[in-house]
Amino acid sequence: MAVREIKQNIYAVGSIDWDRRLFDELIPLPDGTSYNSYLIKGSEKIALIDAVDPTKRHELMANLEQLNINKIDYVISNHAEQDHSGSIPQILELYPDAKVVTNQKCKGMLMDLLLIPEDKFLTINDRETISLGNKTLEFILAPWVHWPETMFTYLKEDRILFTCDFLGSHLATSDLFVTDEARVYEAAKRYYAEIMMPFRTSIKRHLEVIKGMEVEIAAPSHGPVYQRPEFILSAYREWVSDEVKNEVIVPYISMHGSTEKLVNYFVNALIERKISVKPFNLTRTDIGHLAMALVDAATIVIASPTVLVGPHPLVVYAVYLVNALRPKLRFASVIGSYGWGGRMLEQIKGMTTNLKVEFIEPLIVKGYPREEDFKSLDKLADEILKKHKEVIQQ
Ligand code: FEO
Repeated sequence: MAVREIKQNIYAVGSIDWDRRLFDELIPLPDGTSYNSYLIKGSEKIALIDAVDPTKRHELMANLEQLNINKIDYVISNHAEQDHSGSIPQILELYPDAKVVTNQKCKGMLMDLLLIPEDKFLTINDRETISLGNKTLEFILAPWVHWPETMFTYLKEDRILFTCDFLGSHLATSDLFVTDEARVYEAAKRYYAEIMMPFRTSIKRHLEVIKGMEVEIAAPSHGPVYQRPEFILSAYREWVSDEVKNEVIVPYISMHGSTEKLVNYFVNALIERKISVKPFNLTRTDIGHLAMALVDAATIVIASPTVLVGPHPLVVYAVYLVNALRPKLRFASVIGSYGWGGRMLEQIKGMTTNLKVEFIEPLIVKGYPREEDFKSLDKLADEILKKHKEVIQQ
């Protein structure tokens, strides 16, 4: 990525990863990503805010060379995950006088993950500041977005908040700033769903802190920079709120057509009751789409055939993820089929211990569904409608 100027003496010097398609060997990246690193030239000192993924360190180095940066005084590490910290050791080799500035927790993690020696660190506390001469950096500890050591850095004079992963989006784009809010909204919501959703309670606190600050630009370390921070802050406020939408998501698998027959009937029954429904055939689902649907939905209905004695392994995978992401779902149920027996229902319930949901009467049918099974699905749809009316303001 070319060097871009955000404001005078403030540069984006990171890297765009156009081709990356998987993060953490888990998360699909349909639109690639970027590792944003920022250079701030004060009248006396120079700071680099976060670095880049180690696979892209040559691009960061080239950008620093292009700017004729002969010394860096501070390398600010807002987050120890390697896509931002992994090239810090090389930065320290190139700029041996630089100090890594971060909080105590992040320092320990950088020592563990990257074997950076302890004498390379300058440790800061919450709301502490360092001066670059005519510019001041303030550090705001913001644990659990999404690791325990995460923090924000605020450039006071320019009112820029550097948030690392928080508010970010996995989006490779040549736009330095957000130009297409609808596109960024989708990417940022996917990012929130996959990375941030388990930490809703912490995020609420951090949003309150940010509300008390003057932020003209929000600069995350993935995706474009926000010149209108309220756009992404208001989206986050909605996503972390306790409000749920009149939506049901139905992750499902069918092996011989029985469960699919149930799902198709049930989806139509929900549509007839004016309930939004999102079925996900797990043989071809991008888990990012499933995660995004979980941000708002009131209800999940898991649909599976019985394999040996339990749910289909792809259903197990999906339920495990749903449970790990801790969405604000209120209701859950299970539908499915079996040939001769099994413990599918108990096993699925046993995997959802993080979900604060009320279970609604499930429907597990033997073999191919019959007329009375469709009546049971109508009853399930009626019950969901009733429950939604109780908790959702229309
Ligand atoms: Fe972008 Fe948690 O690293």
